[in-house]
Amino acid sequence: MKIAVLPGDGIGVEIVAEAVKVMQVLDLHFELEHALVGGAAYEAHGHPLPESTLKLAKDADAVLFGAVGDWKYDTLDRPLRPEQAILGLRKNLGLFANFRPAICYEELVGASSLKPALIAGLDILIIRELTGDIYFGQPRGRRIAVDGHFPGSEEAFDTMRYSRPEIERIAHVAFQAAQKRSKRVTSVDKANVLETFQFWKDVVTEVSQQYPDVALDHMYVDNAAMQLVKAPKKFDVVVTGNMFGDILSDEAAMLTGSIGMLPSASLNAQQQGLYEPSHGSAPDIAGKGIANPLATILSVAMMLRYSLHQPLAANRIESAVKQVLASGLRTTDIYADGNTRVSTRQMGDAVVAALTKTTITKG
Ligand code: IPM
Ligand code: MG
Repeated sequence: MKIAVLPGDGIGVEIVAEAVKVMQVLDLHFELEHALVGGAAYEAHGHPLPESTLKLAKDADAVLFGAVGDWKYDTLDRPLRPEQAILGLRKNLGLFANFRPAICYEELVGASSLKPALIAGLDILIIRELTGDIYFGQPRGRRIAVDGHFPGSEEAFDTMRYSRPEIERIAHVAFQAAQKRSKRVTSVDKANVLETFQFWKDVVTEVSQQYPDVALDHMYVDNAAMQLVKAPKKFDVVVTGNMFGDILSDEAAMLTGSIGMLPSASLNAQQQGLYEPSHGSAPDIAGKGIANPLATILSVAMMLRYSLHQPLAANRIESAVKQVLASGLRTTDIYADGNTRVSTRQMGDAVVAALTKTTITKG
C-alpha cells in the first residue's frame, strides 16, 4: 500500500506527523513517501504543486494531505498560491466526491457552542461535489502581476457551471451512501435564483428515481445554513455543490465542538482517494504544538476504509480515539474544565498507546 504523504503548510506538518505515527503502529506495511505541497513547495521549487508531487500522488494508492495556505502568499499570482495545490490535486486526480462527516462524540457534547440537546448523537454526512461549480469555471480579472505590481481593474467575475454527468455521478454517490444509512438525502441548492442550481435540482430528482428506497428532499442553501444550527439532527446525508459544500461543511464541523475533529475523504471513480482534515493550515497557531491531530488521525481511518479495504484497522483507530477522549485528554480547541490539556504530540502518543493496547489484548 503506497501512500503519498503531503503535510503542506502551517499546522499541516505537526498533525500529519501524528497521523503517520498512528499508521506506523498498525502493522500494515505501508510504503510512505513524503513530498512538499502548497507554500512549502513554492518556497522550495517555485510552484505549489510541483510535477514530482503530482506524480507521486497519482501513482499512490491513497494520499494523506495536511493543509495548505498562509496569508503571506496572498499577493502572489493566483496560480502560484498554496490553495492551487489542493485544487490541482482534486482536479488532476478526478476526486469529485468529498465526504465530510460531522459526528458529535459523546465526550465532546459540552465543547459545542450549541445546546447539548441539539447535538448529542449528531451524525450527518455532507457530500460535497469537488471538481466543478464556480471553483472551476472561467475566472476573469485575475490578479496577474506586471513588473511586480497589480494593475487596477474595474471588474472581475467567475462562472458557475455544472454538466449533467457531473451532477449525476455525485447524486449516485449520495443515494448509495444513504442506502447504507438512514435512507434520506437532502439536496442543497439555490434553484430560486441560479440556473446552475435549478439544473442541479432537476438532475438530482431524475437520479433519485433509480433509488425508490431513499427519500429525497430539497433545501435552499440559506435555509440549510439556518436549519443546521436550528435542528442539525434533522439532516442525514446532505449533497451539494462545491461552493455551498465548502461553506456548509465548515458550519457542520463546528456543530461538533471543533473543526479540529473532522476528517474528510475525496474519492475518484476508482476509489483512489485523498484524505485530509476538514480544517485549514491555521498559520496563527502553527509550530506551537497545540493543534488537534485527531481530524487527521481520523482521516487515516477513512483512508483505510474507503481506499485500502482495511475496515477493521479503521474501526481500531476510531475506537482508540474514543478511548482517548473518554480518558479526558483534550487539545486546547476541545478543552473544558476538568479535562487534561495535552499537546499535539501527546494526543498522538495517546492514540498510539490506545492502539498498542488493543493489539496486545487481541493478540
Ligand atoms: C476546503 C478548503 C479549500 C476549499 C481551500 C483551501 C482551497 O477551504 O477544503 O474546504 O475551498 O475547498
Ligand atoms: Mg473549506
